[in-house]
Amino acid sequence: MILVTGGAGYIGSHCVMALLEKGYEVVVFDNLSTGHIETVERLKQYGKVEFVQGDLLNKQDLDKVFEKHQIDAVIHFAAVALVGESVENPQKYYVNNVCGTINLLGKMLENNVKKIVFSSTAATYGEPNYIPIDENHPQNPINPYGMSKLMIEKIMDDYSKAYDLRSVRLRYFNVAGADSESRVGEWHDIETHLIPNVLKSTFVGGKQFKMFGDDYNTKDGTCVRDYVNVEDLAQAHLLALKYLDNGGETNYFNLGTKDGNSVKEVFEACEKVTGKDIPVEVAPRRAGDPASLVADNTKARQTLGWEPKRTLDDSIKSAYKWENVLQG
Ligand code: UFG
Repeated sequence: MILVTGGAGYIGSHCVMALLEKGYEVVVFDNLSTGHIETVERLKQYGKVEFVQGDLLNKQDLDKVFEKHQIDAVIHFAAVALVGESVENPQKYYVNNVCGTINLLGKMLENNVKKIVFSSTAATYGEPNYIPIDENHPQNPINPYGMSKLMIEKIMDDYSKAYDLRSVRLRYFNVAGADSESRVGEWHDIETHLIPNVLKSTFVGGKQFKMFGDDYNTKDGTCVRDYVNVEDLAQAHLLALKYLDNGGETNYFNLGTKDGNSVKEVFEACEKVTGKDIPVEVAPRRAGDPASLVADNTKARQTLGWEPKRTLDDSIKSAYKWENVLQG
């Protein structure tokens, strides 16, 4: 059985769906602070999913999982993940992300579970020195969220050396889109991400879309990001599991497409996909946004055999279909 922490959340739920499609049995562990029970109910329709509501900070909750289930490997998504909030409240980020992961790793060791795939982030690199960013780029995070993920990466290195607990850290760039059959999708009560915010503004009662800054040193003045499709991303987790099953060493990979799109380009693609003229206002820059973040994904292609297949338009189309489900 595979333990998926944070399996009721956005990326976690797509990964659970991909696991179920391959016939894996899954235990979802989630405190439902940002994930949704409805997502778990939906997942249960597609395969064998056990759900344990619990918190990584509560060791008894973790015991419930490891005592009841024979866990082969862990995929660890559960985390708090808002960059802005992490600057205002670093305690929340270091306790939840770092202490929570230490508890999880401790329980894995107690139960002799030695394989973990971990969601890391491009935010561990900080302000890029060069683009595209490869895995050798220095890691100097500029906010507590990125720092908490980097700390976990370092802890995982030490656990690998000392206890042979092997990890694959996947450094996501900008994750986008939803399940192509709209079975699950991005569902945040506080939405900060670009594509869902543009799409939400097309619905009745939606807020006017704000473009944060048009004076960056980029092709059109707006920030450039590497949008990787969530279903493609989920496949990378399956490949990472396979890599560990085949005896692969502790490792880390960028997950992005190698293509950068500006906020303006994304906005225009959303207008094309929805067929709507979307009202927009240019607002001041958002604090902490680097001008460009684009991944060099050569290592994931070569070592994991990962191939991102879906385009930005595919992601926007599936996100729009899902947004229609959410809006009822
Ligand atoms: N943006 C807007 N208006 C919005 C929302 C976003 O203009 O309403 C802009 C942002 O300023 C940024 C771009 O769209 O330039 C992308 O913003 P997102 O919030 O969608 O994504 P980020 O690049 O800020 O963050 C993502 C992940 C984080 C991760 C980070 C790595 O969501 O978890 O990449 O830098 F930390």
